[in-house]
Amino acid sequence: MTNWEHNDNLIWHPYSSLMPVFPNLPVVSAQGAHIHLKDGRTLIDGVSSWWVNLHGHSHPILAKALYKQALELEHVIFAGFTHQPATDLAAELIDYTACDFTKLFYSDNGSTAIEVALKMALQYWMNIDQPRHKIVALEGAFHGDTFGAMSVSGRSVFNKMFDSLMWEVDFIPFPSEEQEEHCLKQFEILLAQKPAALIVEPLLQGTAGMRVYRPAFLDCLFALAKKEGVICIADEVLTGFGRTGKPFASHYLKEKPDIMCLSKGLTGGTMPFGVTLANQKIVAAFDVPDLDKILYHGHSYTANPLACAVSLASLALLKESSCVVRIATLSAFQKAFAQQLKTRFQLERVDHIGTIVSFELPVEPGYLSTIRNELYAFFLAHDVLLRPLGNILYILPPYCIEIKDLERIHELIFKLLETKGFSLKPIS
Ligand SMILES: Cc1ncc(COP(=O)(O)O)c(C=O)c1O
Repeated sequence: MTNWEHNDNLIWHPYSSLMPVFPNLPVVSAQGAHIHLKDGRTLIDGVSSWWVNLHGHSHPILAKALYKQALELEHVIFAGFTHQPATDLAAELIDYTACDFTKLFYSDNGSTAIEVALKMALQYWMNIDQPRHKIVALEGAFHGDTFGAMSVSGRSVFNKMFDSLMWEVDFIPFPSEEQEEHCLKQFEILLAQKPAALIVEPLLQGTAGMRVYRPAFLDCLFALAKKEGVICIADEVLTGFGRTGKPFASHYLKEKPDIMCLSKGLTGGTMPFGVTLANQKIVAAFDVPDLDKILYHGHSYTANPLACAVSLASLALLKESSCVVRIATLSAFQKAFAQQLKTRFQLERVDHIGTIVSFELPVEPGYLSTIRNELYAFFLAHDVLLRPLGNILYILPPYCIEIKDLERIHELIFKLLETKGFSLKPIS
């Protein structure tokens, strides 16, 4: 069928109005950092297709790993059975995360990895017969769209419809540098109520606007939590696999999390998959004969061998020195770009960490800011895919992006900011 896109009206797209302002663009293929459209245009993928892609689209090594695995074992029930792709990946991930984890649990995506982490943390306290129920999170956090993950996320346009149905969660303010002390004090007050767990997106809140906070703060927060036995959960769904310049944001910390959630870049962006890793403190509470202390959680596709095989291949690519160099080069370019944004333009905020730059335009704030569509259309008209978070723009490219494509995005941003009159006037 040549006009297959006509049947798109049968599909409910994510985070999209059923009366969309922009038509869904038909994609025929994608290679590297480029997305090829049916109308012949090619876009630069400046957001790694929702933060998942690491090595480029349709990567031949990942495609081969997937094909080879599909010919051997595409899937098998994972309760009562095991297989080598799952065991190899477990050993690799426990080694690569380097946080003293002793077991991991496979699931399907970022939200399920979070649900598993929350269940592990809450059940831990029940299993040791000291039930605790409260979770503490950071204001503005985003941990996913299932109910547990929504509950521990900041209340926003994404979830406010369901507010009355969500668990009660205590939020401490976002730790911008001037707020750090206040946040720690707030957390100390909450500790009196003996929370079960603390969950954070370490060093970078994604959906809240790609906003960055300091490792020193998170070290203090984790240290306070650990002193009271509170379980520390690091949601590295976005920050994992090199995005922050190091393999994991937790690698900037002295205090290690008890539980870590991974997804997005886990398969290199090829397919959905999730993992929740736990240290021995957590594992020990479940390593008992009582049948009512089992973690009663599972998904039909738990430890899917295709997902495991492609994750192994992606990890191998990530560890190659050429990829390490690419991440370092990309990070240096992004850092220099952030510096230019700070010195040349009047912006609300400019943040940079590793391969990611974000900045906030001094206009109507919020995800529904009217400038959002204008910005999105501007970049698409110039064959670049950037997805503003309201009045916040960010670049989060795959590591394979060519420098000329990155420079094109930077130039376009300068052009936009100049046209909109955000240039700093020279002092006369
Ligand atoms: C930090 C973080 N955690 C969890 C999720 C949820 O992941 P998924 O969309 O795969 O359910 C996201 C998604 O953007 C995220 O950014």
